[in-house]
Amino acid sequence: MTSRRNRLLPSLISVALLVSLFASSNAAFVPSDLILLTCGSSSDEADADGRKWLADSTSKTSLSAKDSAPATAMFQDPALPSAVPYMSARIFTSESTYKFPVNQTERHWVRLHFYPSTYNGLLPENSYFSVSTSGGITLLKNFSAYITTKALTQAYIVKEFSLLPASDGSISLTFKPSEEYKDSFAFVNGIEIISMPDIYSEPAQLVGFATQSVDVSNSALLTMYRLNVGGQYLPPINDSGLSRTWYDDTPYIYGAGFGITFSADDNVTIQYPDGTPDYVAPIDVYRTARSMGPDPKVNMNYNLTWIFEVDANFTYVVRLHFCELQMTKINQRVFDIFVNNQTAQAQADVIGWTSEKDMPVYKDYAVYVNDGPGDEQIWVALHPSVSVKPEYYDSILNGMEIFKLSDTTGNLAGPNPQPSLMLEEAEMQRTFASESGSKVHVIGTAAGGVAVASVLFAIGLVMYQRKRRVMGNDSSASGWLPIYGNSHTTTSSSTISGRSCGSSHLSNLAAMCRHFSFAEIKKATKSFDESLVIGVGGFGKVYKGVVDEGTKVAIKRSNPSSEQGVNEFQTEIEMLSKLRHKHLVSLIGCCEENGEMILVYDYMAHGTLREHLYKTNKPPLSWKQRLEICIGAARGLHYLHTGAKYTIIHRDVKTTNILVDENWVAKVSDFGLSKTGPTMNQSHVSTMVKGSFGYLDPEYFRRQQLTDKSDVYSFGVVLFEVLCARPALSPNLPREQVSLADWALHCQKKGVLQDIVDPLLEGKIGPECLKKFAETAQKCLLDHGVDRPSMGDVLWNLEFALQLQENFESGKPVADVITERAAPAGTDHLAESVAGSEMSEDSELNNSAVFSQLINPVGR
Ligand SMILES: *[C@@H]1O[C@H](CO)[C@@H](O)[C@H](O)[C@H]1NC(C)=O
Ligand SMILES: *[C@@H]1O[C@H](CO)[C@@H](O)[C@H](O)[C@H]1NC(C)=O
Ligand SMILES: *[C@@H]1O[C@H](CO)[C@@H](O)[C@H](O)[C@H]1NC(C)=O
Ligand SMILES: *[C@@H]1O[C@H](CO)[C@@H](O)[C@H](O)[C@H]1NC(C)=O
Ligand SMILES: *[C@@H]1O[C@H](CO)[C@@H](O)[C@H](O)[C@H]1NC(C)=O
Ligand SMILES: *[C@@H]1O[C@H](CO)[C@@H](O)[C@H](O)[C@H]1NC(C)=O
Ligand SMILES: *[C@@H]1O[C@H](CO)[C@@H](O)[C@H](O)[C@H]1NC(C)=O
Repeated sequence: MTSRRNRLLPSLISVALLVSLFASSNAAFVPSDLILLTCGSSSDEADADGRKWLADSTSKTSLSAKDSAPATAMFQDPALPSAVPYMSARIFTSESTYKFPVNQTERHWVRLHFYPSTYNGLLPENSYFSVSTSGGITLLKNFSAYITTKALTQAYIVKEFSLLPASDGSISLTFKPSEEYKDSFAFVNGIEIISMPDIYSEPAQLVGFATQSVDVSNSALLTMYRLNVGGQYLPPINDSGLSRTWYDDTPYIYGAGFGITFSADDNVTIQYPDGTPDYVAPIDVYRTARSMGPDPKVNMNYNLTWIFEVDANFTYVVRLHFCELQMTKINQRVFDIFVNNQTAQAQADVIGWTSEKDMPVYKDYAVYVNDGPGDEQIWVALHPSVSVKPEYYDSILNGMEIFKLSDTTGNLAGPNPQPSLMLEEAEMQRTFASESGSKVHVIGTAAGGVAVASVLFAIGLVMYQRKRRVMGNDSSASGWLPIYGNSHTTTSSSTISGRSCGSSHLSNLAAMCRHFSFAEIKKATKSFDESLVIGVGGFGKVYKGVVDEGTKVAIKRSNPSSEQGVNEFQTEIEMLSKLRHKHLVSLIGCCEENGEMILVYDYMAHGTLREHLYKTNKPPLSWKQRLEICIGAARGLHYLHTGAKYTIIHRDVKTTNILVDENWVAKVSDFGLSKTGPTMNQSHVSTMVKGSFGYLDPEYFRRQQLTDKSDVYSFGVVLFEVLCARPALSPNLPREQVSLADWALHCQKKGVLQDIVDPLLEGKIGPECLKKFAETAQKCLLDHGVDRPSMGDVLWNLEFALQLQENFESGKPVADVITERAAPAGTDHLAESVAGSEMSEDSELNNSAVFSQLINPVGR
C-alpha cells in the first residue's frame, strides 16, 4: 500500500496524452472539457495514475463561498489509492457553489470524491450535506460520507453522475450543510467534470408495457452498477475512452446457477457495427461472456439470474451488452430476458440483431422500482426460449449497466446506509465466542458484500441504499447490505448446475459421513437443552453433547429456514469428510432427518482461540502457548492449501475459527465457506466475496479473486490479534485504530509496535522473536497477494520465532538456534516441521543447508 502512494508520477504525463491513451481503435472520443479538481489544495498535483489535478484555489473555476476553508486530512488511510485528491479537502460551513464553464452541447460526467477524515478539527461524523446543480438536479441529500464509507468499510467514495448538457454553458455544484444538524458542514476532496458523448439517446423500453418507452435522453443519471459479465475487473485506464470502471459480475449472481464463462479466441476481432461507437463499452467487455452451460436439460430448469439492491421510487435503466462469440446463425441461441419477473425481451437472438458473430450490440430496458416490502431490488434473469425451438437451449450476456434516472423533482439522492447495524453485529459476533464460530457466517457474508460494494462505490459507481431490516428472527439480518440480497453462497465446485435445492442435495450426504438419527441427537443434547448451547450463529446453534456413552461432541444444528445454511452444510460435510489432519477439526457425523441439518464434531474442550485472548475471564495464555497455537493453525491451513488433492481455500480464517482441544492443540474449523482452489492453469478462483469483517483480504474484495493468499492475509490479522489481544475491528476506538490490520501495520512501520502488544506479555517476549513474529504478520498483510508469503513460509517463520523464544527463555544466544534446528530428533514441532516451497529472505537461513532438508512442498 505504500508503494502505490509513492508512485506519484511527475505531472509530465499531460491530460491530453492520457486521453489519447484511453481512446482506442475506431471512434475515439476526445472530451472537450476535462477538469480534474483537487479541492483545498494549493498546488496542481498528479495522482498515482499520473492524472493531473488542478488546485481549486488557483484554477479558473470560480468558487463563491462565504465560509470555505482549505484543509488537510489528519490521517492518511492506507486504503487510499493516491494522496491526490484525497488528502486535501475544501470545507464549507455555509452554502457554497463551484462554477465550471463547459461546452453547452455535451453531457458531462460529474464524479465527486469524498474521503471523510478530521479536517481543521471538524469531525467527519458531523458532516451532513446536500449537493445540487444549477440545472435543478439534487445529486446528494442529507449525505454523510462518514456513514456511507463506514457502512461500506471503505476509506473513500466516488459518486458518478451523468448530467444533461448545460444550456447556459456552465455547471455549478452547490454544497449545502444540512440544517437538520447543528455544526454540520460540507466537504469535497475531488471533482471531475468530463464531457461525454451522448450514450443515452435511444429510448429504453419500459418493461411490462410493450408499447411504452422511457426517454433517457432527458434525464440526469447516477451509475448504480457496471459489470463486465463473465470477465474481470477493468480499471478506468482500460475503458474505451470514458474512464469508467467495470466489475466482475459474480457477486450478483443468484443462487448456484452461475452458468459458465468463456471468451473470444485471441485471433478474433470484435467488430463494432456501423453506428455503434466503441465508447459504448470496451472490447474487453464484449470479449468475455457468461452463458448457462452445455446441458439443455439443466438450462431449461433454471434462470441465469443477477440481483441488485437499489433505492425505491426511482426508474432505472438496465443496459445489457451482448456479443455472440460462438454461434453464427439465427435461431441457434434464443432466450427470454426477464427484469423483475416480467418479460423485458422475448426471444432475444443476438445473431438476429447483429447478423454476425463477434459483433457488439446493447439493449436498454427501463423499470420502475416501487417501495413495497422486498421491492428494492432489480432482478435480471435469462432463460432459453424453448417455444421457438432454438438449436441450443442457452442464453448469453457480456456486460450490464444499471443507471438510476432522476425523478420528476430532479432528485437522484437516496438515503444513507445504516452502518451501525452492521457494526453492532460485527461487534456482537465477537461476544458470541461460539464453539464453531457459526454466527460468523452471516456476518462474514455481510461484510463481504459490503466490501464489494465499497469497491464499486470507490471508483465511481454508486449503488443502493436499503432500509434497515429487522434483525433477530431473520437469519440474514444483515441483508440490508447492497450486494448480498438474496444471493447466497455457492460452494459447490460445479459451475453448471441449476439453483441448489436443499432436499436433493441432502440425499447424497448420508454416504459421506456417519449418520446419526434425530433421536440420538436429541438424547445427546437433552432435547436441545438451552443450557448446553456453546455457540449461536446465523446458521443456528451449537450444543455440547455426549454420544456413544461418553464421547463428548459439539453438535451444530442449522436453522432449517436458512437456504444459505443448506449450501454451507453441504460444503462443510464434503470438505470435512475428505480431510483428516491433526490440525483440522474432525467431523464425526451428520443428521438430516425431519428437515434438520445437524453436524457432529469432535468436542474442543478449550473452545476458541479468541476466548483465551480478550474479553475473557480465562487465564491468559503465555506467549509460547500462543505461538504454538498459531503454529498448529498455520499447519492446518498449510495442509488445506497444499496437502489435499485440490487446493482448499478456507475463506474465513479468524480467531473464532481456530479451536483448541484439551491438550491445547489448535484445530482449524468451519469450512462452510471453503472453496476448492485454483487448478494448475488458473491462478485464482473468481467468486463472491465471503469472509469476516476485519479479516478480509483487501485484494480479494477489490478484485473478487480468491487465492490461498487471501487466507494468508486473514491469518496475518490473527497473528496481530494474538500479539495485541484486541479484536480485528474495534469500532469504538479512534478511526485510525478501528482496524487492527491497519493500526498494527502503522505501528510496525513507525517502530512502535511494542506499544500495542498485549500488556500481559510485557517483558515476556524475546526481542528477536517479536521481531520475527511481527515481520511475518506484516508480510501476510501485504497489499498484493503475490507479495505475501505462502502458508508454508508463514509456518516456517513461526517455528523459527518459537525457537527464538525458547532460546530467549532459556537464556541461549540467537546463533544457537540454527544448530538446534538442525538436530535431527529436534523438538516435537521440529520433527513435524513443514516448510514452504519458498524460503524466506533471511539470508543466514538461506545459506544454511540444513534447512533444505526441512523443505517439503506438501503439507501433512
Ligand atoms: C462542444 O461539443 C460539440 C459536440 O461534441 C463539439 O462539436 C464542439 O466543437 C464543442 N465546442 C467546443 C468549444 O469545444
Ligand atoms: C489494461 O490495459 C493495459 C495496457 O493496455 C494492459 O496491460 C492490462 O492488461 C489491461 N488490464 C486489464 C484488466 O485488461
Ligand atoms: C482462431 O484460432 C482457433 C484455434 O486457436 C481456430 O480454430 C480458429 O479457426 C481461428 N479463427 C480465425 C478467425 O482465424
Ligand atoms: C416512495 O413513495 C411513497 C409514496 O409517495 C412514499 O410513501 C414512500 O415513503 C417513498 N419511499 C421512499 C423510500 O422514499
Ligand atoms: C421475483 O420472483 C421471485 C420468486 O420467483 C421473488 O422471490 C422475487 O422477490 C421477485 N422479484 C421481484 C423484484 O419482484
Ligand atoms: C424464470 O424467471 C421467470 C420470471 O421471473 C419465471 O416466470 C420463470 O418461472 C423462471 N423459470 C425458472 C425455471 O425458474
Ligand atoms: C439523515 O441521515 C441520517 C443518517 O442516515 C438519518 O438518521 C436521518 O433520518 C436523515 N435525515 C433525513 C431528513 O432524511
